[in-house]
This record gives sequence, C-alpha cells and structure tokens, in this order.
Amino acid sequence: ESYKVLVTRKLPGPWIDSLKEIAEVEVWDGSESPPRTWIMSRIKDKDGVLVTLSERIDKEIIDVSSKLKVISTYSVGFDHIDVHYAKSKGIKVTYTPEVLTDATADLIFGLIITVARRIVEGDNLIRSGKWNVPWNPEFMLGKEVSHSVLGIIGMGRIGRAVLKRAKGFDMNVIYYSRRPHDVEAKFVDLDTLLANSDFVVITVDLNSETYHFIDYAKISKMKRTAFIINASRGAVIKQDDLVRALSEGKIAGAALDVFEQEPLPQTNPLTKFPNVVLTPHLGSATRETREKMAMIAVTNLVKCLKGESPLYEVK
Ligand code: GLV
Ligand code: GLV
Repeated sequence: ESYKVLVTRKLPGPWIDSLKEIAEVEVWDGSESPPRTWIMSRIKDKDGVLVTLSERIDKEIIDVSSKLKVISTYSVGFDHIDVHYAKSKGIKVTYTPEVLTDATADLIFGLIITVARRIVEGDNLIRSGKWNVPWNPEFMLGKEVSHSVLGIIGMGRIGRAVLKRAKGFDMNVIYYSRRPHDVEAKFVDLDTLLANSDFVVITVDLNSETYHFIDYAKISKMKRTAFIINASRGAVIKQDDLVRALSEGKIAGAALDVFEQEPLPQTNPLTKFPNVVLTPHLGSATRETREKMAMIAVTNLVKCLKGESPLYEVK
C-alpha cells in the first residue's frame, strides 16, 4: 500500500528520505513557506501532510482534502492549525514537544542573561567604535541574574526546564499557571508574580485564553527594574502595549524571540530600544533539535497513516 504525503518544507536530516520509502512524497523545495495555493491544489488526494508553524492550516484547507488522516506539525506550538475542526473531521493532529524543550529553555536563559547584562549593547558599543573609556566602576551596569526573582508564567515542559536552569543560578522562582504543579517553586497569583519578579518569563502556548494576555495594565504592575522575556508566541503579549510601556519606562527592558508579525520589520518600534534584545524565532534552532523534530514529525505521520498511535498527538 502506498500513501500520498505532502511536506511543506525541506527538513534537516535523513527523515524525509526515509519517508519516501513508504510513501509517495511531494516536498515544497523553497526555503520559505509555500504559497497557500500550492498547498490547496495538492492536499486534495493526500493521506497525510507535514507542515511547519508558518503554514496556517484552517477550515478552508482542511475542507479541500478528502482523504486526510493526519496533520503532522514540525513544532511544539499548534496555534496555526484549526485542531478542533480537524478532529471533527476525524483527522489527527500531531506535534513535536519534548525534543525542543532544552533548546528552548537554553535560549530563554540566554535572553535573560543577554538583556540583564547588556551583552548586545556592549557588543554594539565596541563594533561602533564607542568603547573609549577604560574600565570604570559604574560603566554599563546591569541587573544581576543570580539570586534574583524569576517569575514563570506557565509551568509546562518548557517552564520546568527554565526552572531547572534557574536553580543553578540560585534564583528565587515563583510561577503562575492555570493550576499548581508539583515543582520546587512557589505558586502565586498573577498580580503577585508581576509585582515581585525581576524577570517575567512567558512559557504558555497561544490560544483564545492567552491571546494578548500580557497587556499595558499587566505590564504596569511589574517593577520598573524588571524585564519581560518571551519565546512562546508573539501574540501572548499585546505588542503595541509593550512598546508603550517601554517608552514610558514602566519596565527596564525586554527580550523577545517571537512577534505578532514574523518576520518583524526593521521599522517596528521595538528595534529602537537599546534595552530590548531581539532574536528571530530561534527557540528550537539547534542542529540537534531540528533533526530530532524531523524524526518525531515523520514518525508521528507514519504511525497515523498506518492506523497506529502517534508519539505525540494534540489532544
Ligand atoms: C516553535 O515555536 C515551535 O512551536 O516549535
Ligand atoms: C509547552 O508545550 C511547554 O512545553 O511548555
């Protein structure tokens, strides 16, 4: 039996080649997301589709397909897929959590340290020829990460991996999530978290409850010396409100890996703040993790095609 599969991106590692041994595979070979019309015209007779977070898989696309059994996404986030509608049509949605947890938590810690210790500012200073005073006791002082208070919003896999790293820095960790978890950190309400944290880290996924969850009113409850860090989804923060809060000095800075619009245009006001660190959605971007994600995404897809349980299904 041969399955027909659509893959919207070339992926690192050998996994797409191995998929070709059991299925007829059509792969988009551009380096950017395929046009929507490319997906629409090809998904019709496919049994499975492997997508990334850049392709929006909504009702319209799902309705074009007539045989689809599985939508396998190469990501931990699944806000780009109408999961509810897919399920109502008997289509399984699978994803790649766990393998990217450590890479993402590493990046989050990198962002915390980078924004707190002004690493990018210092680098820019040297490159632009402006490091012209010798060592000085009050030069470019930042905020100490060790022993500070870390507030984690969301305590899923990534939240727990951030917590584990924070222990190594002797941080005092508090967290807020829908329910308490069995972790070594203090569960607090959101206002308490905002008012007490030196670093507020967002690790929730994007859904109708978390859309624009962090707005001007909430940012204003943070300490003026505190930083906000986001590597989940841009739209969890109301970006215009963050810009306003930064302009008014309501917080000390931000480090962001995700944005409401990606790619973030250079003209965006966020790029004007020296106390804001920006990275282009790199949470899972290590060679090791991206290859593991390909293995999981392909395995999920194949298992669903064969009628077996996938490794990770979005429930
Ligand atoms: C990355 O943002 C992912 O969802 O995998
Ligand atoms: C969310 O999926 C997380 O791993 O925190």
